[in-house]
Amino acid sequence: MLPEQKKEFNFTREDFDYLRKIVTELTGILASEDKYTLYYSRLARRVRRLGLKDFSEYRKYLDSNRDSEIIELVNSVTTNLTSFFRENHHFEFIRDHILPDKIKQGDRKLRIWSAGCSTGEEPYSIAMTLAETIPDYRQWDIQILATDLDSQVLRHASTGVYDESRIKGIEAIRLQRFFIRDNSQEHPQLNIQPELQRLITFKQLNLLHHWPIHDKIDFIFCRNVVIYFDKVTKDQLVDRFADHLTGDGYLFMGHSESLFRSSERFKLLGQTIYQKSDGS
Ligand SMILES: C[S@@+](CC[C@H](N)C(=O)[O-])C[C@H]1O[C@@H](n2cnc3c(N)ncnc32)[C@H](O)[C@@H]1O
Repeated sequence: MLPEQKKEFNFTREDFDYLRKIVTELTGILASEDKYTLYYSRLARRVRRLGLKDFSEYRKYLDSNRDSEIIELVNSVTTNLTSFFRENHHFEFIRDHILPDKIKQGDRKLRIWSAGCSTGEEPYSIAMTLAETIPDYRQWDIQILATDLDSQVLRHASTGVYDESRIKGIEAIRLQRFFIRDNSQEHPQLNIQPELQRLITFKQLNLLHHWPIHDKIDFIFCRNVVIYFDKVTKDQLVDRFADHLTGDGYLFMGHSESLFRSSERFKLLGQTIYQKSDGS
């Protein structure tokens, strides 16, 4: 806990418990004891901006502005860390295995879901991989659905505009092909090429709620999202993913999120890549 005297706003244990319970109920994200400081520092900004005296006032404000403020609360405390080609072996697997099979099948159709896409680096990396691997991808029927709970990160994702610091490490050939440099701003920015953007639809979606998704999906990325979910929530989610995948569809998880015996419906191919194997 923060030493009392250093805090700008009074933030009691009761305040912390009250707020983290709301977040867990809405998102499935568990906040352990050590998240007290994170909650305080992220939400103190909000309390300040609203001109409130302390966190007990914030709780009252939240209760009387539930619909709008709950979004601000969740946006403030979720972790949105991401990067282009994070865990690159997943993109190599798409390039070396999934897409060659798809090209052979010849139906020229792909349905992909990036679930918990944060600021968009993940779905754009998928789109780049498709464009690099499928020579005639413009003639294919490709839809990448990219969803997140957090409306703020989604807004950023759909603009496709990134600071230079975010594209460090991307190969020059990719930068040249998929980004347009904009030097008109104080800090140079890079815009994703519209032809890549056209492949992606960004939508707000809470993974714990109903999913308005009708097509069967070839592969789902749900990486570094369920890490803070409890086991029951995670198992239910993985089961629903299986229902939405094609017969031999794939599920990609984050590096510390193995399904370890939690699903009979998938087989592990290695490096947190799973293939549906229940015949449904
Ligand atoms: C750490 S980021 C991961 C981004 C990307 N998948 C990656 O691995 O680089 C986790 C994202 O999951 C989202 N998230 C957390 N709980 C969610 C839920 N219940 N429904 C939808 N998105 C959620 C957060 O808003 C955040 O943007």
